[in-house]
Amino acid sequence: MEIDVTNEKKKAIDFIVNSSSLSELIKTETELLGRNGLINSLLKQLKNIIPEKRKTVGININALKQEVITLINQKKQLLSQKIDDKNIDVTMPGTSIKTGTLHPITIAITEISSIFSKLGFIRMSYPEVEWEYLAFDTLNMPKTHPARDDFETTFVNGEPHPTYGKMILTPHTSSGQIREMWRLKKPPIRMINIGKCYRPNWDATHTPMFHQFEGLCVDTDINITHLKGALDYFAKEYFGENTQTRLRPHHFQFTEPSFEVDISCTMCQGTGILRQSRDSGTSQDDLKVKCKICKSGWLELGGTGMVHPNVLISGGIDPIKYSGWAFGFGIERVIMMKYGVDDIRNYYSGDMRFLSQF
Ligand code: DAH
Repeated sequence: MEIDVTNEKKKAIDFIVNSSSLSELIKTETELLGRNGLINSLLKQLKNIIPEKRKTVGININALKQEVITLINQKKQLLSQKIDDKNIDVTMPGTSIKTGTLHPITIAITEISSIFSKLGFIRMSYPEVEWEYLAFDTLNMPKTHPARDDFETTFVNGEPHPTYGKMILTPHTSSGQIREMWRLKKPPIRMINIGKCYRPNWDATHTPMFHQFEGLCVDTDINITHLKGALDYFAKEYFGENTQTRLRPHHFQFTEPSFEVDISCTMCQGTGILRQSRDSGTSQDDLKVKCKICKSGWLELGGTGMVHPNVLISGGIDPIKYSGWAFGFGIERVIMMKYGVDDIRNYYSGDMRFLSQF
């Protein structure tokens, strides 16, 4: 007996091609691949074929089977697409596309730059790798200052510069003050320098890389009232219109006098009391719960002061003719204060549940 596999293949293809609906195709599938279908009946006839030819015919029937399976699957896809095309439900909600969000640090940088630009400050970005000379010497910091230790500052391997000394990862944005004085050569200067800074610390309020924004204003007759005015304006614009600022005496090498700036707590509006407790209590005090964010009504923003005459001299500016103020605040820190974030490491976790909230 002979089996004409080529002829059987033609028949099978005809069947598939002529199935014009899904239900017809399923019937065809049973007729071709079912227990009593064409392929199985061909396989059953194999035993009647002369032994020399049996192997080749068997191989051909199996190849036909694979081809039929592929063709049926392709046709199934085609027919179900047709159904979809015909039955589009235009009232169904579309599949939503996940959109990304700007990182909270990027958002804060944009907001801060925009607030200071309204006061006439120009946004600058200075190098992330800095010379020791600019980061310390020109800022009136003695060679023995502890910030110059290698557990406070990260040094970069390489030949030291004959004048500028060793290369370091910028530990603060304050060296931008000197770079800006060098760039402009002459006041008026109104700069906001925003950049990455590096210090080897890692805990709930410190990451080894963080961001600072440094304000610098130098002109004739600049005094502390201008500083206080600019800080008040920033605090109200960024944290909310009821925010108050206060200056506390402090010490920095590059400013004289120096201060730390506090803002009234954004969570308890400077009262130090977060809410009245509903727990039973007898005296009025028992009903008050201390604000967990500030404990005292004030939050520390960062350092500021009137630019030290030695710093103006390093920048090539005459301290008799000109005076100025400066400040340096942490970006991660101001966002934490604004929203009550309690762990700085969240910013760098890559966790979208946190990052998409801003
Ligand atoms: N550079 C200081 C730091 O990183 C912050 C600072 C304090 C900047 C006082 C200033 C300033 O401009 O006047 O801790």
